[in-house]
Amino acid sequence: MNPMLPLKSKILDLWDETDDIKSFLIEDVINKKPLPGQFYELSLSGLGEVPISFASWEDGLLFSIKRAGKITEYLHRMKKNDEIGIRGPYGKGFPITDKFKVLIAGGIGLPPARSVIEHSLSNSDNKIQLLYGARSPRDLVYKELLNEWKKKFDVKITVDVADDNWSGHVGVVTKIFNYIKNTDSFFYIIGPTIMMKFAVMELKKMNVPDENIFLSMERRMKCGIGICGHCNIGKYYVCKDGPVFNYSLIKDIPELFF
Ligand SMILES: Cc1cc2nc3c(=O)[nH]c(=O)nc-3n(C[C@H](O)[C@H](O)[C@H](O)COP(=O)(O)OP(=O)(O)OC[C@H]3O[C@@H](n4cnc5c(N)ncnc54)[C@H](O)[C@@H]3O)c2cc1C
Ligand code: FES
Repeated sequence: MNPMLPLKSKILDLWDETDDIKSFLIEDVINKKPLPGQFYELSLSGLGEVPISFASWEDGLLFSIKRAGKITEYLHRMKKNDEIGIRGPYGKGFPITDKFKVLIAGGIGLPPARSVIEHSLSNSDNKIQLLYGARSPRDLVYKELLNEWKKKFDVKITVDVADDNWSGHVGVVTKIFNYIKNTDSFFYIIGPTIMMKFAVMELKKMNVPDENIFLSMERRMKCGIGICGHCNIGKYYVCKDGPVFNYSLIKDIPELFF
């Protein structure tokens, strides 16, 4: 069977998270439990595919998708019960560990972080802390869930630009690194390239060992399964060897943060 052939699925539900991010609950026709940090290829017949990290695996597969270009624009115009192609889960996810985990998420990095949080909480492990940064209060995803999480573990949120109703932190996510509880943790960083670069720089100033830092990398993809060679970082393929990489493996690759 052709491994790149998507299975036909349908959108069970969809809703707006922000002005440009929508969540899609998709029927899990694959029925294989994904690991936190893994991704799927979602496809629209005749148009193409996009790699998207899953956010949750309850009552279906949950994806939160930002409108970024051609395919995501079409996805945002879809309706409940519309057909969608899906294949996956692909890639290596975040380590499953008993160690304390500090999740550093920027923008649309929160959905993959959610998969780690839900996995931990479902295993009665609340040794987690979330540091989340968004452009503005309007751009925060999962607003209700963030309040639920605050009752269970430490959540700190910052926005680049506040509005009149915002009384929380203002500034980039590294501005709230002083809240990091335990530098002997695993650090999972998910977000825009520039944010990951500065987050790593700050963690290094705090003497966090390279081996304790994990980055979820993004590159343009085609096959998603290590065949086409489109998604390389140095000698690694992001789709097959990542998207989650230990920093010690990739830190010397010159184009890492481009
Ligand atoms: C492993 C992984 C997980 C991801 N998870 C998520 C997720 O959970 N949620 C989410 O919203 N997104 C996620 N993404 C990003 C998502 O896959 C992209 O936003 C999506 O593929 C964009 O497709 P598009 O057709 O809508 O946009 P495109 O039309 O491909 O355009 C996207 C952007 O790229 C630019 N662009 C277009 N062509 C090129 C080119 N040849 N070279 C460089 N730039 C170009 C465009 O100007 C635009 O800014 C993930 C990506 C990866 C690799
Ligand atoms: S997308 Fe084809 S090798 Fe990674």
